[in-house]
Amino acid sequence: MSLKQHGKARAHTNIALIKYWGKADESLIIPMNNSISVTLDKFYTETEVTFNPEYKQDRLVLNGQEVTDDEATKIYRFMDLVRERGNTSMYAHIESVNFVPTAAGLASSASAYAALSAACNVALNLNLSDTALSRLARRGSGSACRSIFGGFSEWNKGYDDETSYAHSIDANGWENDLSMIFVVINNKSKKISSRSGMSHTRQTSRFYQYWLDHVDDDISDVKDAIHNKNFNKLGEVIEENGLRMHATNLGSQPPFTYLVPESYQAMEIVHQCREAGFPGYFTMDAGPNVKILTEKKNQDYIINALLKTFREDQIIASDITQTSIEIIK
Ligand code: PMV
Repeated sequence: MSLKQHGKARAHTNIALIKYWGKADESLIIPMNNSISVTLDKFYTETEVTFNPEYKQDRLVLNGQEVTDDEATKIYRFMDLVRERGNTSMYAHIESVNFVPTAAGLASSASAYAALSAACNVALNLNLSDTALSRLARRGSGSACRSIFGGFSEWNKGYDDETSYAHSIDANGWENDLSMIFVVINNKSKKISSRSGMSHTRQTSRFYQYWLDHVDDDISDVKDAIHNKNFNKLGEVIEENGLRMHATNLGSQPPFTYLVPESYQAMEIVHQCREAGFPGYFTMDAGPNVKILTEKKNQDYIINALLKTFREDQIIASDITQTSIEIIK
C-alpha cells in the first residue's frame, strides 16, 4: 500500500475594494484593519500537492519550472505549519499553475496560498472548515484568507491567530451584475513588495493614523452599499479608500509610490467615462496596474474608451465568481 497522500485544488484571486495595509502582528499576519474584496472568475491558481514519506525535502514547481528562490523558502515555511496541523513529518511536492492571461502580471499570492491550503486540506484529511482554511491561508499571505470565498469577502482583522479570518458577504446575487476591468500597465514583478511597502508605511507614514481613523467607516459604507445594491455609493467609497492607501505611502519616510503616469492616465479615462454617464471606479494595489469596478452593462463603453490610449492586450475584463475553491479529482 502506498503511503502517499495527494490533493488538488483551484482557488481564484481577489482584489481588495477596501485595502489591507499594515500588520498588527508581522509573523502571524494579523492586519491593522478589516478589508473587503471581490473574487474574480478569470484568474486562478491550480495546485497539486503530494506528501510522501520517502521525500527528503519539499519541492515546488510553478508553471512547469522548479522554484528555488525566496518565494520557495516562504512556501516551505508555510508547509511546516501544514505539517503541524496534520501531525505529520512528511515532505511534499507541490505543482502549481497560475491561470492568468500571459503577460498580465497579475499572478497573485492570494490564489496561490488559498489553493495550496485547500489542496493540503484534502491531501492530509485535515477536515478544515472554511474559517479554519481561511486562517491557514492567511499565514501564507494575508489577502489569501479572502480567496477562500467567492463574491464579496470580508477579512475580520481579529486580534490573534484564532480570530483573524475572512467570511463571505451576502450580496443577493448582485455580484453577477458587476465586473472588473484590468488595465495592465506593467507586468514585471513589483519593485517594492506589499509586505515591505505596508511595513514601511505603518512604521513611518505621517498619514497612517488618518488611514486607520477612516477605514472602519469605509467598511460599513461598503456593506451598506452592497446591501442596497447602490453601485455609485460603493464606487465612491472604494475609489477614495484605494487612493487613501496610496496617500499613506506618499506620507512615509522616505516616501514612495506604486503609481506611474499611465496609472493616472487610466484614472482620468475612468473619470471621463463617469462624466459621460458610464460609471466605473478604480482601485490600485502594490503596483501600477489599474482595476476598474463597473456594472456589466457599462463594461464595453469603458473598454472602448481605454482602447483609445491603451493596447488591446493591456485590457482584460473579468466577472466576479460565486465560488472560489474547487476540489479537483
Ligand atoms: O496579502 P499581501 O501581502 O499580498 O498584501 C496585499 C496588499 C494589497 O493588495 C495592496 C491590499 C489587499 O488588501 O489585497
